[in-house]
Amino acid sequence: MTNSSAADQPHADTLANILVVDDTKANLRLLVEILAQRGYQVRPAANGARALAAAQADPPDLILLDIMMPDIDGYAVCEQLKADEQTQDIPIIFLSALNEVLDKVKAFAIGGVDYITKPFQVEEVLVRVETHLALRQMRASLEEKNRQLEQEIIERQRANEALHQALQDLKDTQAQLVESEKMAALGGLVAGVAHEINNPVGFSITAASVLEDETQELLNAYRENNLKRSDLEAYLNTAEESSQLILRNLQQAAKMVKNFKQVAVDQSSLERRSFNLKTYLEETIYNLTPKLKKTHHELTINGDDDIIMDSYPGALAQVVTNLVLNSITHAFTDQQAGQMHFDLSQTDNKVIIQYADNGSGIPAENLGQIFEPFFTTARSQGGSGLGLHIVYNLVTQKLKGSIYCDSRLGEGTKFTIELPSRLNQ
Ligand SMILES: Nc1ncnc2c1ncn2[C@@H]1O[C@H](COP(=O)(O)OP(=O)(O)OP(=O)(O)O)[C@@H](O)[C@H]1O
Ligand SMILES: [Mg+2]
Repeated sequence: MTNSSAADQPHADTLANILVVDDTKANLRLLVEILAQRGYQVRPAANGARALAAAQADPPDLILLDIMMPDIDGYAVCEQLKADEQTQDIPIIFLSALNEVLDKVKAFAIGGVDYITKPFQVEEVLVRVETHLALRQMRASLEEKNRQLEQEIIERQRANEALHQALQDLKDTQAQLVESEKMAALGGLVAGVAHEINNPVGFSITAASVLEDETQELLNAYRENNLKRSDLEAYLNTAEESSQLILRNLQQAAKMVKNFKQVAVDQSSLERRSFNLKTYLEETIYNLTPKLKKTHHELTINGDDDIIMDSYPGALAQVVTNLVLNSITHAFTDQQAGQMHFDLSQTDNKVIIQYADNGSGIPAENLGQIFEPFFTTARSQGGSGLGLHIVYNLVTQKLKGSIYCDSRLGEGTKFTIELPSRLNQ
């Protein structure tokens, strides 16, 4: 079959195979002749039985079918062809003599596509044949397009499923990445802690070995009865200094280890329960009284009295304690009378805790680093720089919330913490 249409070419299908059925020999010959001249492949059949055999043996593209024939007439041939799946789609044009009674309604009802009355005009036969071959071809190509469309839909569905799968894979990979990033961060943390602990432990070892040497010398002098008062005094000085140095440095190392343990948030055995936020914060702050008593600062809590949270109060206490201790350590000098303030509010299912001090503030260049592990401006005073890192981990991982810091040098520091009031299971 070709793809051209009847409109742009007289032969819709020059290779088309046409079966001509007529029991009148003259008619049969004439039809075969004019169609063959047009380039069609034509097969003649002189009666109904032969027509059926020919159509079934090699289904033609079109049939010209006489109605009045002995034995099996055109209607019967048509009905049998339409009943057979192999031949039912072949277009049939009926031929009928003018003096014969043509039952047009019946011709169409049993599946004929057209009819031509005899005696026929050659041009009329050719045009009708042409038209129905073209129609058949169009129908075939429509069916083919339909099949392609259906195939396309199936392929799209498959592509969609593949996309879904890819998305799922991506999510899995992402989760793995986050997990491995956490591991990498932990590795960095371990290296950092080792580095931070190295100094105080190193100092302690040096001080201890000095103490050991001097003790040995003192012991020797004592055993040899050679101990002078000035030696003893010098030794006592060294012993006092060394023991202080050892104690201070080991305390520093111990603090580092303690903080590091808290970084692993998941390991802290913190109970989940329902609690009133304000009451709980008041209790937490009460525990800080010994620290606050030594200062002139004022610490207040305001806001909604009725916020009930279902979460980890222990984690929240750690967060709040760290923030207040940071204000005492970094925001104010000992002589200042600073103000620290908590403000509590809630929306639908979120709790907002705002904490602010009116202290020194954080310089802009440090603001982006305060949550990073080991960032501290107070290393010489024993700061580990893990405090706010722990706070960040507790808020985002354990309490499933967010924390944000707003600060300007000389204008104080404000932390905004948003938490779900009820954690999912
Ligand atoms: N309220 C504040 N006012 C001014 N600076 C602050 C405040 N809170 C934190 N900072 C700054 O952020 C840094 C990091 O704080 P973080 O709590 O992580 O460590 P640290 O307090 O120095 O050490 P550690 O918590 O181990 O004692 C501090 O060193 C300080 O410079
Ligand atoms: Mg701190």
